Amino acid sequence: MKHLLSARELGKEQAIAILDTAIQMEQVNAREIKKLPTLRGKTVVNLFFEDSTRTRTSFEVAAKRLSADVINFTAKGSSVSKGESLKDTAQTLQAMGADGVIIRHHASGAAHTLASSGWIDASIINAGDGTHEHPTQALLDAYTIRQKLRGNEAGTDLAGLRIAIVGDIAHSRVARSNLILLQTLGAEVYLVGPATLVPGALAAHAAGSFFSLDQAILEVEFDAIMMLRVQSERMTASFFPSEREYARIWGLNGDRLAKLPANTLVMHPGPMNRGLEIDAKAADSVNSVILAQVANGVSVRMAVLYHLLSGGTEID
Ligand code: CP
Repeated sequence: MKHLLSARELGKEQAIAILDTAIQMEQVNAREIKKLPTLRGKTVVNLFFEDSTRTRTSFEVAAKRLSADVINFTAKGSSVSKGESLKDTAQTLQAMGADGVIIRHHASGAAHTLASSGWIDASIINAGDGTHEHPTQALLDAYTIRQKLRGNEAGTDLAGLRIAIVGDIAHSRVARSNLILLQTLGAEVYLVGPATLVPGALAAHAAGSFFSLDQAILEVEFDAIMMLRVQSERMTASFFPSEREYARIWGLNGDRLAKLPANTLVMHPGPMNRGLEIDAKAADSVNSVILAQVANGVSVRMAVLYHLLSGGTEID
């Protein structure tokens, strides 16, 4: 595998191999010296045209823990703000000897464009392209679910688990990548949200879909419930009456949490709109694994960099 552009590229064996490598990386991250020589001499570029906290910093930490040199490139403060194109930016990175480029871009398909352009030889990792995909988020979510519900056992899949993805599905690259990857790993994935925000084309590929969160909780015993950020910045129309109404009908709050099975995982990719799609009682509950998702992001991204860039060097 040279690039990671979509969760669709990962077969079950390949996905499990990455999750298993992440277990080894988690063990490295628990050591006093959290460092491997695996990517010594390699250069990894964080090429971010959109804001990020978790993805950018965790890729930076992951690459540094594997001993790569890391260049952080954000559109703000670079020559992109002077109008430099993606092609010229890519060719500049090629001239600097980039081995891996982690790209986040507002345009769906930007990572594919870079990988297929011939502008650059580096491995390309999609860190979120428009409303399309965010495959490493899906990998870290799958890892967290397996860690919490399957004992973090190497080789295991997610067969038989029922997972709800709730909220603004239409604008969510996290939802798209998770729908694909969690099903590849054998889970039943349900889409839940307002009819205006659950595209029929995606619902057709899910185990089921609901336009009422209360109805979904009544009908299915979910093992994990993944709340999505309402992405107001991507909305070009009014998709629900008001934020207050959204929180009342679609938000995960203490009352709804009490109706879920006692061990249901509460997940959110971040950043959270507290009081909108999730309230403090749910986000800060004992069921919440939201900070575990962030911590696992480092181990999983180390595993992805290892698989793409190490050439199969031993992990020691
Ligand atoms: N989950 C996620 O992609 O978060 P950031 O936007 O902070 O990277």
